[in-house]
Amino acid sequence: MSESTQRQTFGRMGFILAAAGSAIGVGNIWKFPYITYENGGGSFVLIYLIAVLLIGAPIMFAELLIGRQTRLSPVGAFLQLGKNVRGGKAWSVVGWLGLLGGFVIFSYYSVIAGWTVYYFGKCLSWSIGGFTEETAQGLGDSFGAFLANAPLQIGFHALFMIATTSVVYFGIKSGIERVTKTLMPILAALLILLLVNSFFAPGFGEAIAFLFHVGPVSASQVLEAVGHSFFTLSLGMGAMITYGSYVSRKQSIPRAAATVCLFDTLIGMSACVIMFTIIFGVPVAERAGTFSKSATILFTTLPRMFYELPFGAVLAPTFYLLVAFAALTSTISLLEVVVSYFIDVRGWSRSKSTVRLGMVIFLTGVPCALSLGASPFLSNMLVGGFFNTLDYLASNWILPLGGLLIAIFSGWFLDQRIAKAELEEGHGPFPLFKVWRFFIAVAAPIAIIWIVVAVIGGKSFQ
Ligand code: TRP
Repeated sequence: MSESTQRQTFGRMGFILAAAGSAIGVGNIWKFPYITYENGGGSFVLIYLIAVLLIGAPIMFAELLIGRQTRLSPVGAFLQLGKNVRGGKAWSVVGWLGLLGGFVIFSYYSVIAGWTVYYFGKCLSWSIGGFTEETAQGLGDSFGAFLANAPLQIGFHALFMIATTSVVYFGIKSGIERVTKTLMPILAALLILLLVNSFFAPGFGEAIAFLFHVGPVSASQVLEAVGHSFFTLSLGMGAMITYGSYVSRKQSIPRAAATVCLFDTLIGMSACVIMFTIIFGVPVAERAGTFSKSATILFTTLPRMFYELPFGAVLAPTFYLLVAFAALTSTISLLEVVVSYFIDVRGWSRSKSTVRLGMVIFLTGVPCALSLGASPFLSNMLVGGFFNTLDYLASNWILPLGGLLIAIFSGWFLDQRIAKAELEEGHGPFPLFKVWRFFIAVAAPIAIIWIVVAVIGGKSFQ
């Protein structure tokens, strides 16, 4: 824990971009539309939005302030802050939980990230070789074959692992961040273009109605919405603690956190409108097939929309490439948490921890890669297959539990003078401190505990 005094810090925009890069990923563009669709839209979205505002944002403040205060990654940070409070070393369990979360999430996330790379190649070949009526028709079926193809699934998972590990290994994160600075705005611009295109498409009205129509939900759907608010904001496992440890003292934590939450949410919502417009644009009679493919719509149907646009042949591969980059900036943060533990606390070298962990996480990802069709056994085991089980455990349980502990720690155990000073440092007077304190100490913990109890009790809400 030697570097606590002079850890390198991010420049102002550099930090916001890195944190936004971690938050924005396939969670926004692939997962959010798909789970929103499966959970019936309106109420799910509403709960997600409330969760971002009232639980996610306050926890983002807390993670960043813990990181900047200690200048350490999660396990080290809790070991240090734990020294002065009740509970002591036991608080480092939050860091451990975070390591587990990062490990698990990265292993399956890399599989989906691999798909975006594959689709980049595929769209590129269509752009060059021609995108015919037949190709368009065959999009759905060919995706099924792709999922069942073990070598391709493992190969692209491996490719993505190698990419992430190389970035973390060579410590070229700052290089990636510089590239991201240009790429993220282009991704946002492409999404806006698709959004405008959706506006004129036949399914748009129904998509919006679906997105905002509120109906009854079950407790487990509420938990999923809250879990996703953690997942999409990269919260609950210490990624933002790690990033916070690199934030300069001149920077405002509240402003940075609010910016990240806002952009992350806007991107997720835009992705929903785009995907749902496609789903609802299909005549009712043909919908059954499209419906069941909601999890894969980003890959099966979206390419067609591109080819209907002017310059689509250029835009389609560009889009998947950008999504792959968005995924890369997310996986970097996942791996960084795990790797920096072994560096900060165990004293391993960066190269040793990166290579070893990269390999172990890759191996854990292999059954995930095979569990979306390639292996019937892995695809059907536990909660909807190996992949879905890990996602379910991480998003719905590990992250909310981590978030709960972080909230309780920051609200009840951490010296509030430290918290206030951190939130004001680089920001100026922060009159909303009491509001934050209320959410972090009372509202967020009660909400999370209440939801978990309701899920265990199998409740539904009208
Ligand atoms: N937030 C990312 C996404 O939406 C995924 C991610 C990156 C993440 N780092 C994380 C999720 C840390 C939880 C915790 O795609």
